[in-house]
Amino acid sequence: MTVPLIKLNNGNEIPAIGLGTWQSKPEEVTAAVCYALKEAGYRHIDCAWGYGNEKDVGAGIRASGVPRSEIFITSKLWGTWHTRVEEGLDQTLANLGTDYLDLYLVHWPVALNPDGNHHLIPTLPDGTRDVLHSWKLQDTWKQMEAVLKKGKVKAIGVSNFSEAKLEEILATAEIVPAVNQLELHVYNPQHRLVAYLKSKGIVPQAYSPLGSTNSPLLSDEKVLEIGKKHSLGASDVLIGYLVAKGYVVLPKSVTPSRIASNLAGSLAAAQKLEVADIAELDGLAAGGKQKRFITPPWPVDLGFENWPPVWNE
Ligand SMILES: NC(=O)c1ccc[n+]([C@@H]2O[C@H](COP(=O)([O-])OP(=O)(O)OC[C@H]3O[C@@H](n4cnc5c(N)ncnc54)[C@H](OP(=O)(O)O)[C@@H]3O)[C@@H](O)[C@H]2O)c1
Repeated sequence: MTVPLIKLNNGNEIPAIGLGTWQSKPEEVTAAVCYALKEAGYRHIDCAWGYGNEKDVGAGIRASGVPRSEIFITSKLWGTWHTRVEEGLDQTLANLGTDYLDLYLVHWPVALNPDGNHHLIPTLPDGTRDVLHSWKLQDTWKQMEAVLKKGKVKAIGVSNFSEAKLEEILATAEIVPAVNQLELHVYNPQHRLVAYLKSKGIVPQAYSPLGSTNSPLLSDEKVLEIGKKHSLGASDVLIGYLVAKGYVVLPKSVTPSRIASNLAGSLAAAQKLEVADIAELDGLAAGGKQKRFITPPWPVDLGFENWPPVWNE
């Protein structure tokens, strides 16, 4: 299986489809990762310290027998590590059992209190998230640049960054983020933000491409209609649409048949979808179906309640 490669702004290449691992239970993810690499042809795994399953992902990578040098591994810096990037990265490297990452992302543009009441999501007495308001994202980015220069990661990027947050770090950045990993799918296409990313040479990565858990996207009538026209399943249309748009796409599954079809079926779909199909899918959100599925309860003063606002912004 030949998975298209997308060039990053540092010259490295990233496979256009990667296996997502969020909410993959530790006892399931080892087999899923092993199957994806050994049987289904994946060469790209999307991980995060915050998912709490990196050790099990690492076990799956080793069990696959695929050499480390052939696999593109991404992980992410969780909020409680913003002030200590290298320390957080070292935990991830030890968890995964590797001595470098191909890509390391700032998971959210929010630093959380590293000395708070919980290592993952510290909270204040009123129950809201314990954010380190005085910390500057620019300083997180400086530390990301430092681990890149040290050779511990081959590329650095961000996730869940709006244009404003990117402008904030770009004002002092030496290195432009290679990617911005975002919720991107037919109900949340973020056309304007994607256009901005392209203008900066930042590759968009699509998370929750199927609409995440119990998704209504899989039964959307337009998606089904386009699928019927080309003899494709709904998941093939949803992932293939994003591949056809040139994004890196990160479908998650722990089910072998789905892991396989999310790669093979969607690559076939990316070839079959016509310009008119893509245009119709591009317009679903604008036609009234705009919906974001991943909405963590960040404190309101961070502006997330308005972000990303509507289909065309
Ligand atoms: N940067 C971030 O903040 C962020 C946020 C969210 C996600 N992500 C990344 O993006 C990845 C994907 O997003 P996601 O996990 O939210 O959702 P997703 O990939 O859109 O959907 C995953 C769900 O769809 C099911 N599924 C997978 N393939 C299917 C198919 N062919 N037919 C029907 N159902 C199917 C999976 O079930 P089974 O597993 O049971 O098969 C699971 O319930 C994550 O795993 C993570 O790596 C990043």
